[in-house]
Amino acid sequence: MACFFRRAIAEKLGRTLHESEDVFMPALSAVPVFRKQETADFKLPISTLRTRRILPSDGDIQLQTDRLASQLKPDSVVEAISALPGVITFTVNRKLLVQKMLEPTGRQEEEFGLNSKLFDTLNRGTSLVEFSSPNIAKKFHAGHLRSTFIGNFIANLKHSLGNRVIRMNYLGDWGMQFGLLGAGFGKFGCQQKLKQNPLQHLFEVYVEVNKEAEHNEEMKLAAKDFFKQLEQHESEAVSLWQQFREITVHEYEHIYKRLGVHFDIYSGESQHQDQAQKVVQQLQTQGLLKTSEKGTGVVDLSPDGDMSSFCTVLRSDGTTLYITRDIAAAIDRKRKYHFDEMIYVTDKSQANHFDQLFQILLSMDHAWADRCRHVPFGLVQGMKTRTGEVVFLEDVLDEARTRMLNNMSQSKTTKEMDDPEDTAEKVGISALIVQDFKGPLQSDYKFDWDRILQTQGDTGVFLQYTHARLSSLMRRNEAVDGAAVEPALLLEQTGITILQHLLRYDEVLYQSAQDLQPKHLVNFLLKLSHLIASAHRELPVKGSAPGVAQARLRLFSRAHSVLANGMRILGITPVDRM
Ligand code: ARG
Repeated sequence: MACFFRRAIAEKLGRTLHESEDVFMPALSAVPVFRKQETADFKLPISTLRTRRILPSDGDIQLQTDRLASQLKPDSVVEAISALPGVITFTVNRKLLVQKMLEPTGRQEEEFGLNSKLFDTLNRGTSLVEFSSPNIAKKFHAGHLRSTFIGNFIANLKHSLGNRVIRMNYLGDWGMQFGLLGAGFGKFGCQQKLKQNPLQHLFEVYVEVNKEAEHNEEMKLAAKDFFKQLEQHESEAVSLWQQFREITVHEYEHIYKRLGVHFDIYSGESQHQDQAQKVVQQLQTQGLLKTSEKGTGVVDLSPDGDMSSFCTVLRSDGTTLYITRDIAAAIDRKRKYHFDEMIYVTDKSQANHFDQLFQILLSMDHAWADRCRHVPFGLVQGMKTRTGEVVFLEDVLDEARTRMLNNMSQSKTTKEMDDPEDTAEKVGISALIVQDFKGPLQSDYKFDWDRILQTQGDTGVFLQYTHARLSSLMRRNEAVDGAAVEPALLLEQTGITILQHLLRYDEVLYQSAQDLQPKHLVNFLLKLSHLIASAHRELPVKGSAPGVAQARLRLFSRAHSVLANGMRILGITPVDRM
């Protein structure tokens, strides 16, 4: 059990301070390993006990630290307890560390670390995660790709920690663009091209119509008229719109599959068109709707009720807006799916939109809006393919695969692969994901193919390489999970450092579950991979005495499954050969 030590220390603290052990579980943190230096395993900052009012916050912090440290007595699990400035550190018994961390888990190998008691303090329940959400006929830009990666990660993480997860794609499938598309399709569209290459063709038509409408009043009127027909559910218009939508979803499903992403629900703005009008009425009844000088319907969001900030929910011609549909969509989702939390993933330019959305929902007495969250992310600059700017998601995936295949062709193992293209695709995608997740999500970053595809250094390729190398080690040696490991045979610092690092796994997931940032997990796995690289050199399996070889194999096998498991949470499919 991976959380064995954290619990043992928490229990000890609980007994000494007469508090429940649960209080100490999140307060204790595993000490990050540094190179291969010997360190303690866990630390407890005394300040956290003061903020939690377990210790008086006006006492002398060092006195409190020293006193607590001396009250806590070492035992057979915790070997040493030391007081540092404001922090108490704990070192666990080395043999027990080896024994517990390498204990066979049987069929639940992939669940190592995931059943940690640490997670009991998190809210489990239903999480609705809305992500990707491209707009039909428009570009699938780098922002949509980021949203896809991040949302998938959040959904995977929540699922791993025991939540029920609903994955939703909220398509931009309504609005004036469909007026233009519908009106222009007769002139610029072609059914055959639409079937052959739907995304490309719809985009082309959309670009053409927009150009035309710039100087052609008739086209503009036709577009308005088509959109009106749509809003009034006229069957001919609706059926063309429906064709565009269906064909697009079908294409996207295929591409998401390449990414290893799936959605439970394809929703979209169109689904809430009528409900949005009801929302306006509701706002009216609740006295929240005001009419502006321009004749638009607005909601006052200023703290003092002086309209110093407001949000427009109704155009002067009586049509609703993006935000109005989002209000309706949120209410509808709560009713349908009874989520405990809802998470929206979009670039940071929409942060204000979501702030306003949550505020309006709260003022309509939807208290659950408190449990809605927007996860904003920064811009990606310069994502280009050989042929130019990225327009379609598929272009990026093809480019990643081609480049990776090209890099791989220089290695001899590529010839032994059943499906090098498939491997190249998986590795290429992992490169995109790791690059995207390394920093804080809010930061913008510059995209660079050569950098993300490096084998050495902190890339997704490096993670895959480490995984494949471990898989090969496992293939070449007997299955090791049954036999008992003799802890005395695995006390070299290199191995201990890996085990200490693994003590952090549950904590890293816990941190990610709180702030929804993938960087904790990515950096944890990169560090793990570096430690594994040293272990390959310093703890060879081949040529070692059988007991030693068994013990080392078990260590590699555990590292292998944590790596694979962590990669999967990130949305990466680990490869066994590359
Ligand atoms: N389709 C939108 C866009 O591409 C993103 C939708 C985000 N979700 C939402 N509920 N508003 O910008």
